[in-house]
Amino acid sequence: MAYNSPALNVMTAAARKAGRPLVRDFNELENLQISMKGPADFVTHADKRTEHILIEELSKARPGYGFLGEEGGVVEGKDATHRFIIDPIDGTTNFMHGVPHFAISIGLEREGKLIAGVVYNPVTDDLYTAEKGHGAYLNNRRLRVAGRKDLPQSLIATGLPWLGREDGMNRAMVETAAVLGATSGIRRFGSASLDMAFVAAGRFDGFWERGLYPWDVAAGIVLVREAGGVVSDMDGGADMLTGGSLLTSNEHLHPQLLKLLKEAGA
Ligand code: IPD
Repeated sequence: MAYNSPALNVMTAAARKAGRPLVRDFNELENLQISMKGPADFVTHADKRTEHILIEELSKARPGYGFLGEEGGVVEGKDATHRFIIDPIDGTTNFMHGVPHFAISIGLEREGKLIAGVVYNPVTDDLYTAEKGHGAYLNNRRLRVAGRKDLPQSLIATGLPWLGREDGMNRAMVETAAVLGATSGIRRFGSASLDMAFVAAGRFDGFWERGLYPWDVAAGIVLVREAGGVVSDMDGGADMLTGGSLLTSNEHLHPQLLKLLKEAGA
């Protein structure tokens, strides 16, 4: 059984509450005959409403805590020591295309340190939770990163640039080629928080991406650490929440992937 502190219970309840209308939107999207402008507007509305529900629920239970959200940006709280970092739909492109692989992601910081994370896929009802010092769980089942030690047997996830994010394209191609040539394969599933949850669950052996935001990774960082994994930025440093790049894996593969990616991108 997962250890759920009152704070984690609050985060879980908020994610579940915001998830219900999000699933209704998702099902409706599949039936809507919409113009090119239509789906984007529909999704923006779903994104904003989900963030609104999350902020309302979290603020009710923890008045004074600050927020950093994908839609709303920074909201200073009276309590300067606590902040929720939220992504209402991580995997927006999947959502828009009817692919049931997206998540609500909520991280909690205390005095600038991440202490709890919730990643919730409302379609599959998979709830990933972690709290500093108390382990990581999927629907109350304890998680542990995979134990593979060698790159050739490993399955690695990544995120790739797209139209409008072309600046990182060449580097991503070079890095991807290096990892493809050294491992059992790469997956690009389209939701960084779920990619990290899958690393925590031992499904993926590692994940890297550049061009990430704090709300994409805050909850995932706690999940992977609590599942026994290593998380760094892509220089091997600790600036993965705000620095935009992140590499995570188990303790054996992390240094190997770091070296491989550094040499490829150099
Ligand atoms: C995106 C997803 C995607 C990743 C992007 C993120 P969003 O988040 O996590 O997998 O490749 O870097 O921005 O925009 O859907 O919340």
